[in-house]
Amino acid sequence: MSFPPGFLWGSATAAHQVEGNNIASDFWAFEHTANSIFSEPSGDACDHYRLFRQDIALLAELGLNSYRFSIEWARIEPEDGLVSRAALAHYREVLEACHEARVTPVVTLHHFTSPRWLTALGSWDSPETPERFAAYSRTVMTELGDLIPYACTINEANISRVIRLILGDDGPRSVQQAPVGLGTGGAGAAEPAAHAFFSRKSFLTTYNENAFDVVTRAHQAARQAIREVSPDTKVGITLAVQDVQPLPGEEKTAQRVWAEQFEDFLPAIVEDDFLGVQNYSRIRVGPDGMAPLPEGAEVTQMGNEFYPQALENVLRRAASAGLPMIVTENGIATDDDTRRIDFTRLALEGVERAIADGVDVRGYLHWSFLDNFEWMHGYTPTFGLVGVDRATQRRTVKDSARHLGEIARRNALR
Ligand code: BGC
Repeated sequence: MSFPPGFLWGSATAAHQVEGNNIASDFWAFEHTANSIFSEPSGDACDHYRLFRQDIALLAELGLNSYRFSIEWARIEPEDGLVSRAALAHYREVLEACHEARVTPVVTLHHFTSPRWLTALGSWDSPETPERFAAYSRTVMTELGDLIPYACTINEANISRVIRLILGDDGPRSVQQAPVGLGTGGAGAAEPAAHAFFSRKSFLTTYNENAFDVVTRAHQAARQAIREVSPDTKVGITLAVQDVQPLPGEEKTAQRVWAEQFEDFLPAIVEDDFLGVQNYSRIRVGPDGMAPLPEGAEVTQMGNEFYPQALENVLRRAASAGLPMIVTENGIATDDDTRRIDFTRLALEGVERAIADGVDVRGYLHWSFLDNFEWMHGYTPTFGLVGVDRATQRRTVKDSARHLGEIARRNALR
């Protein structure tokens, strides 16, 4: 068995997690408030903003042919209405570096972080946001669309619903300690005035239907803008697609969870060109929501069950959207690189079986290329194919990177 010709073999990052000094973003502000829920600030991250050329060259050298990264809205539009030509020029250089290395860029326009100024408008809970996001997308794609074959509008647009399932209806407790002096609430307010990635009951968006509406409308507005200015770019969204498995007798509950996390989004994405599928493990559903991990389960640094079979299951199930799929994230946080190799091999065997059965999968982009800033967990979890010594910014290629690179060169697992 081999994979279809032109299969995208690559790895993924996100701007805030690797670039460093994303100071005009809402997250930077969250990281630097008193009682921040972040275990450490992102700081220089992997200094990828400066080192992107060597990172992309390394990715290509390993045998990979695709790189998913995100363009940072807070850099392109650091103040409301102020477009940075320098930031656009920077991302042009990143894209050119990809093309020179024969690496197909898959570009995400929003990967969790937003400009600080957006929080004052209400961020992802505001009816103005779809238009703002579409305008930013239009700016980027007008300038850079000629170099962008694939654009993902919003990363894990369904994440708030996933988090609600995992954390229950009260949402992340610690977000209550994240007052940022950005919106009308002012510094030290009991609650953030506006919803950014984290808010009282949310992750990226609130749970209410208004926020669901804002995100899905933002996607559709951006898609239309992108198609107008860059008709050759394929446009999609990415979803965190959980392998939702029912405990005995809980089939109905599991079906409801699947609908909330996946099927509800279908009307907004049916006209897309592809679907980005992101998966890390399975979720077992019982009467009270997410069930505890099975006894004796191997657990990753993120507390997920080691369960690479989940990817095949979700690809088969998500095929119901009727869209070509790209695995835009799949990976494991571990300090044992042999387990990363096992995880990747087992996940890819599942992808191979799904493709053999006619499931339309066009690429596999491993999360992540570099050990990077894992949001509120800081730099402790290591997802990278490549290690990073943050004191020297030296990169160390792990065996898992070579393993994936060899598969990519062969376009086959064996
Ligand atoms: C996100 C990444 C994150 C990864 C691992 C995904 O939900 O898109 O930004 O680092 O999972 O937790």
